Amino acid sequence: MSNDIEQAITSTYIRDLFPALSGVGLVGSKSGWALFNNAACSQTPHFLIDREIEYVTLHNFNTGESSLLSKQTTEKLDSARDVIKLWLNAGDEIVVLGQSATLLVRLLAIAYGHILVPGDEIIVSTSNHECNISPWLDLQKQGVVIRFWEFTQDGYNCIDNVTSLVNSRTKIVTFSNTSNLLGEVNNCKELIQDIRAMNNSVVVVVDGAQYVPHKCPNVQDIDCNFYFFASYKACAPGFGVLYGKRKDFDSIPGLGNRYQDKSNYLKQFEIGGPFQAGNLFAFHGLTDYFNTILRQPISTVCTRDIIVRAYQVMEKFEQFLITKFIEFLLSKSCYRLFGPKTSSIKGRVGIISFQHSTISPYKIEQVCSSNNLYVRQGHLQAYRICERLGIALDVGVVRVSFMHYNTVEEVDKLIGVLDRIEELAVDVPASNS
Ligand SMILES: Cc1ncc(COP(=O)(O)O)c(C=O)c1O
Repeated sequence: MSNDIEQAITSTYIRDLFPALSGVGLVGSKSGWALFNNAACSQTPHFLIDREIEYVTLHNFNTGESSLLSKQTTEKLDSARDVIKLWLNAGDEIVVLGQSATLLVRLLAIAYGHILVPGDEIIVSTSNHECNISPWLDLQKQGVVIRFWEFTQDGYNCIDNVTSLVNSRTKIVTFSNTSNLLGEVNNCKELIQDIRAMNNSVVVVVDGAQYVPHKCPNVQDIDCNFYFFASYKACAPGFGVLYGKRKDFDSIPGLGNRYQDKSNYLKQFEIGGPFQAGNLFAFHGLTDYFNTILRQPISTVCTRDIIVRAYQVMEKFEQFLITKFIEFLLSKSCYRLFGPKTSSIKGRVGIISFQHSTISPYKIEQVCSSNNLYVRQGHLQAYRICERLGIALDVGVVRVSFMHYNTVEEVDKLIGVLDRIEELAVDVPASNS
């Protein structure tokens, strides 16, 4: 480990940017909690909270009107959207927001439902979160054929498993950049190129919900048609975000009312009343956050380069935590690790799911919880992954998910508890029923 990373990890300069962590995360403090359920919900740096307060205090006016105040507010919210676009490297393409990733992919499937005809085919990866399976399956009612793309034993989507499924009737292929149970990193760019080599008109929809919190997204580089994620899992406000190429948004009917401008993507896909504008404004705080990670003065300018370099620092932090934890699990024959067996952040992120040979995930979660370690257990709505890997849905897995703000001390504490789990779990009930 290089000196600068070692210094950064042992210092708390990133952690101190998160007000919530000063209260709950400190190991050693009696009330201190270590948060290892970040894949469900991450914490927010103060810059974003500050921006939310700034909005409510100074800019809380209606948008889209001709008065100066309204114009200013509209501009400020539009430029907050620009930060999201830069984050994804979306260029001039379209980004819409919604209540959740689940809702946005549901809307996308409804929109495609209007143009697909019986016999059209959709390929759906079984390593998807169920939110990116059920909406497509529902199109079977109108004669659309669904084909399942199986992942490899290590959890990756590989081209060999989809080749026989792609044909001239294939309209959509959808898979995850990273699964919420397996933690693998799929090579979207290569997969999309190979799929297009078989059928050039296929629309590719990628779920980035568990990738964006760990690795820098680049939708233009992977060249997908649609990409969605949940910004609240990536230290940002509570939205679902859907990127799509303009030409692809143009090819599906919008879901706004009949009188609304069909070329206004926001009216057509952010349907209903205005958003939580303060939350949207908070995206400006990401610029401050990324600059601070790089130990640079805060600037109002966000560039792609700043985002890419900030992610490089975050990845180095996370790599250190992953290596420690994966090496521990692999050294213990009582633990079965799901997903990639590698500890390299090139092939996986810090989403690490496992089972113990005799102690249930529920018991492990309870023991962790009583030691102020917040892990997650269950099927994680990754039903088809569980089915394929022989994980009973009522048993599930233990999932530990890191963010770059977790510390080595926290991971050591978790390892200490898991190392003594047989002894610590003796009096814990087997389930909560
Ligand atoms: C991989 C993945 N996709 C989508 C979602 C759904 O996100 P949301 O809660 O915003 O609907 C989740 C939630 O955990 C997820 O892990």
